This record gives sequence, structure tokens and C-alpha cells, in this order.
Amino acid sequence: MPPLKYGFIGLGHIAQHAHLPGIRPLIESGDVRLQAFCDTNEDLVREVAAKWNHPACYTDHRVMLEQEDLDALYILLPPTLHTDAELIAAEKHIALFVEKPQTLDMEQAYQFDEVIGKSGIVCQVGFMSRYYPAAEHLGALLRERRLRHVNVQLFYSGAPIRFWTSRMELCGGSFVENTIHSVDLIRSVFGDIVQTSAFYVPRRPDDPERGPWNLPHAYVVNYQFENECAANFTTSRCLTEAGVSRREMLIVCDDSLIEWSSHRIVENGRTVWEEDPPSNAFALQAAAFARAVRSGNPSDVRSPYHDALNSLQAVLAANASAARGGELIAVRSLGR
Ligand SMILES: NC(=O)c1ccc[n+]([C@@H]2O[C@H](COP(=O)([O-])OP(=O)(O)OC[C@H]3O[C@@H](n4cnc5c(N)ncnc54)[C@H](O)[C@@H]3O)[C@@H](O)[C@H]2O)c1
Repeated sequence: MPPLKYGFIGLGHIAQHAHLPGIRPLIESGDVRLQAFCDTNEDLVREVAAKWNHPACYTDHRVMLEQEDLDALYILLPPTLHTDAELIAAEKHIALFVEKPQTLDMEQAYQFDEVIGKSGIVCQVGFMSRYYPAAEHLGALLRERRLRHVNVQLFYSGAPIRFWTSRMELCGGSFVENTIHSVDLIRSVFGDIVQTSAFYVPRRPDDPERGPWNLPHAYVVNYQFENECAANFTTSRCLTEAGVSRREMLIVCDDSLIEWSSHRIVENGRTVWEEDPPSNAFALQAAAFARAVRSGNPSDVRSPYHDALNSLQAVLAANASAARGGELIAVRSLGR
């Protein structure tokens, strides 16, 4: 079978450090060929292409999509920079991989969803946490438990490493840009989120200067799921210099307190599943995406664009609620 021909838009951090290394085994096995790269930074696209067998280089995705015959396209752009690549790919029937957050504009997400849905293409949103074996084990465990509530606490340390991730208007804030992974993972087992109420701890004019950073210090978000379970997510972003980061995900069922991490599951104080060394979720996600591109079946990926909408709605609805003093927001009608 000839290799699948892949194109990339955006050759920045996540392309270089996660997706290309994740695809490497598929290139080595002859399943995938990197055909074309596009980045508006011409020096960068040439530099990355030189390390990855010299695919054709472009600085305009419209030209790339006009000139190249691709089977699949990775769109790895900051969320405010999506324009028409999704629409062109759907029209040309090119399978899509789109990094999260898919956009910060729900109207644009609904438009893309409609076009992608009508085209019938395979489209995976980059919620790679669903590909951890620990996520599969969690799903299996919870199918046999009575779910009640969830508590997720994320304490981030260090400063944002890219300009756009330091700006609320460009990344949507840490809850949208980062915590969306945990929200989506919980959604994968609890089902859709229907309403939210959120409070954020904002930056104040007299706060210590932190370069271009205008993100809130903390995000405290409550969710209610369709199945009437509830969740609380707390994301802290004021530990910049502390040198400690921590993620705690506690799932509470009748008579069962489950602590989840990407390589270990502990239930009622006892380790019930463990993996050492931990799997590379990006590689597992890449392999699953390639299989789906070959099968052409949109439901062969774990986060199709349409399904992933509720995770995006949930984090953007939290922003909307916090901006309105904690007002209860109906998640599914956001932006409609
Ligand atoms: N899954 C994860 O764990 C994870 C981790 C980090 C980032 N991400 C997501 O990946 C996406 C990209 O993030 P990143 O960290 O790689 O950002 P980045 O800023 O490092 O890279 C983005 C690249 O896109 C290029 N670009 C901008 N506009 C373009 C355009 N119109 N056409 C072509 N190229 C263009 C930029 O020049 C840059 O090289 C974001 O949505 C981010 O949230 C996901």
C-alpha cells in the first residue's frame, strides 16, 4: 500500500516536539510520507523540513492545498489563527487533524463542524489524553461504578513559553488552552457537560509585572453533566517561580475514590493499574489517526470534530460565566 501523504500547517512547538516524533514510527514503517509543510515563518519551515526528509515548503496554506495532493492535513495553529484551511480540506476531501482548542470563536467552530460533517471526512481533534491506556482503563473501571462527582486540580508552574499563550485574548486563558484536556478526558467518561458557573481570580493593576502576561491567577469552575453528576475544576497559574506543578484528578463513585494519572490508577488507596514506562499518547493518537485515514471512517477516531465541540463549549462557557460574575451558563447553546 502506498504511504499516506501528509501535510502540516504550523511547524511550531507542538509539531516539532510531539506530532512529528509521534508520527516517526509511521514514516519508518512506510505508512506515512511527509509531503508538504506550511508555516508563515519561512526560515522555520525550511529548518524543520531539513530535519524531516525535506517535504515541500510553503508559507501560504492555500497555495499548498492547491499544489499538493494530500491524504491528510495537520492544522497546528494557535486558536485565533484558524481561517479557511478546515473548509478547503473538507472540500477537497482531505482528512483533518486539528489541535485543541479548535478556535476561540464558537460560531467558527459550528461553521467548521457543519462543513466537516457534510463532507464525511475523518477529523480528529487533538485530545490525545483519550489515547492513554490509563484513559481506557478508567473507562472500563467506571462502567462498573456508579459515578457521582469529580474534582480536578491543576497547579501550573513556570511562565508561558510563547507570546500567544501569555495573552488571554490569544489563547483564551490557561483553562481554555490547557485544562481543556482534563475537561475532555472527564467528558469521555461522564458524557456531555450541560451547564457551568465559574469564578476566576483576575490580575490587578498593582500585581507584579510579568512581561506580556495578562492571564488570571486562578480559575474555579463548576460543571454539571447531562447525567446529573457534577465536577469542580481548579486551575492555578500563580506558582510561576515555585518550581512545582501538580495535577490531581479525583473521581468519586459510590464507595470508590479513584485517583487518576496518565500512568497510574489508584482506587480506595490501592494501585489497581500502573504502566511503566508511560505510553506516548501522541504516538498512539498518530497511529489511530493514520488507521482512520486509511479506513475513511470518521468514527474511527476518539475525538471527531463534532463530538469535541462540547469540550470547547464547556471551557469557553466557563470564561463567559466568569466574565459575568459566575452566572449559570447553558453550555450547549453557547454562541448559538
Ligand atoms: N496537545 C497538547 O498537549 C498541546 C501542547 C501544546 C500546544 N498545543 C496546541 O497546538 C497548537 C499550536 O501550538 P504551538 O505550541 O505549536 O504554537 P507555536 O506558536 O509554537 O506554533 C505555531 C506555528 O504556527 C505558525 N503560523 C501562524 N500562523 C500561520 C498560518 N496562517 N499559516 C501557517 N503557519 C502559521 C507560526 O509561525 C508558528 O510556527 C495550539 O492550538 C496549542 O494549543 C497542544
